[in-house]
Amino acid sequence: MGFDAVILAAGRGVRMKSDLPKVLHAVAGKPVVLHVAEAVGRLNPGRIVVVVGPGQEAVRNALAAVPRVEFAVQHEPRGTGDALRCALSAARMTGTLLLLPGDTPLIRPEMLAEFMEFHAGAGAAISVLTFIPPGPGRYGRIIRDESGAIKAIVEASDAGAGESGVREVNSGIYCMDAVCAAAMVGKIGTANAQSEFYVTDLVSMMRHAGKGAAAHVSSCPGDLAGINTRAELAEAGRAMSARVKDMLMENGVTIVDPASTWIECGVEVGRDTVIWPFSVLRTGVRVGSRCRVGPFAHLREGTVIEDGAEAGAFTEMKASRLGKGSKALHLAYLGDADVGEGANVGAGTITANFDGKRKHRTVIGDRCSIGSGTLLVAPVSVGEGSTTGAGAVVTRDVPPGATVVGVPARPLVKSGKGGGSDD
Ligand code: UD1
Ligand code: CA
Repeated sequence: MGFDAVILAAGRGVRMKSDLPKVLHAVAGKPVVLHVAEAVGRLNPGRIVVVVGPGQEAVRNALAAVPRVEFAVQHEPRGTGDALRCALSAARMTGTLLLLPGDTPLIRPEMLAEFMEFHAGAGAAISVLTFIPPGPGRYGRIIRDESGAIKAIVEASDAGAGESGVREVNSGIYCMDAVCAAAMVGKIGTANAQSEFYVTDLVSMMRHAGKGAAAHVSSCPGDLAGINTRAELAEAGRAMSARVKDMLMENGVTIVDPASTWIECGVEVGRDTVIWPFSVLRTGVRVGSRCRVGPFAHLREGTVIEDGAEAGAFTEMKASRLGKGSKALHLAYLGDADVGEGANVGAGTITANFDGKRKHRTVIGDRCSIGSGTLLVAPVSVGEGSTTGAGAVVTRDVPPGATVVGVPARPLVKSGKGGGSDD
């Protein structure tokens, strides 16, 4: 069944107290609104219209890779009803419209599909996806009549004594007839506590117009949380990271203590890899099979750890590769570094990749042995099979098979060369 989607992302996000638009805050390494757009995208809508504020280039950029996304601008955030009006005047739609807030990152495609199926069978011009959270908080209350049919949605700030105790609340996700919505959205008023245009008013308006309104209670209340505060952001991040960890464990990764391990979306880990507590794996990190990570490893963007390699305690990596079977087991910083296969990076090794202006790369060849406390001043390369002495400061390229020591590092010349013997 074909449909179009509208995602509302032009709100102020006042409660975040942030200079960054609310929908761009990261949940497990991915912007809130990107989570929403990707979940919707998996259902193959005809178009995805995202309502943004003026000059919100960053929101547009965050969604650049999502197919079929287009933008409508809401010049002033005058409420969700006004935001929908902007979408409908920018993009003509005729069939079913799936409307979502841009601040519910935990939604899943399966649950949206189930809701759309409900709407298709409900015979109503608008359907609301509702849920029952542990406490109704700031969510809109679902008001039903004696027969159980939905009458209206009342915002928390407008709720009377009898209404604020209602436990069933509005997820902010609706299915509606686009033509009906276009005809009515302009009639929404602002007679409410916040003097805003509420999209929720469409429910009572369509009911009164005899077009029908329906409500579907979601079976996954935990997936519908909206993010309005930093605390809610943290909670959503934790839930999203838990999903990522569950999936990795499902695929054969050992995560010794998931609760103390932070893994973001888009991290890949091969089977039989063991991840020790207090490790952080940022989005996009790739770890092979039979690796060991942590405890206390910090694997940042662009890190690749190949099969059988180990990044141990207090090892930080950024934009770096650790080749097959290589080890950086203790207190190392590998930034913009390429470490070949079978190499050992000694405790305390540091790639000095930043000269105060630019970043430079370090290359460490296969089977190198980098002594404890080596400082590699990039750009620099250490040839295959070479050794650096403990505490060496490597400022020049080291040829293959060489041994360098000292500050600055120089080729090792055996004492008594040509004369004495060491037997
Ligand atoms: C809204 C609902 C509430 C529901 C809750 C679910 C209304 C009036 N209330 O409340 O019933 O329980 O979502 O999470 O709709 N936005 C715009 N332009 C605006 C205002 C908002 O694009 O002028 C966007 C925001 O960026 C956000 C979404 O719409 O992504 C929801 O707005 P928000 O202010 O978070 O609404 P809530 O108060 O949470
Ligand atoms: Ca919200």
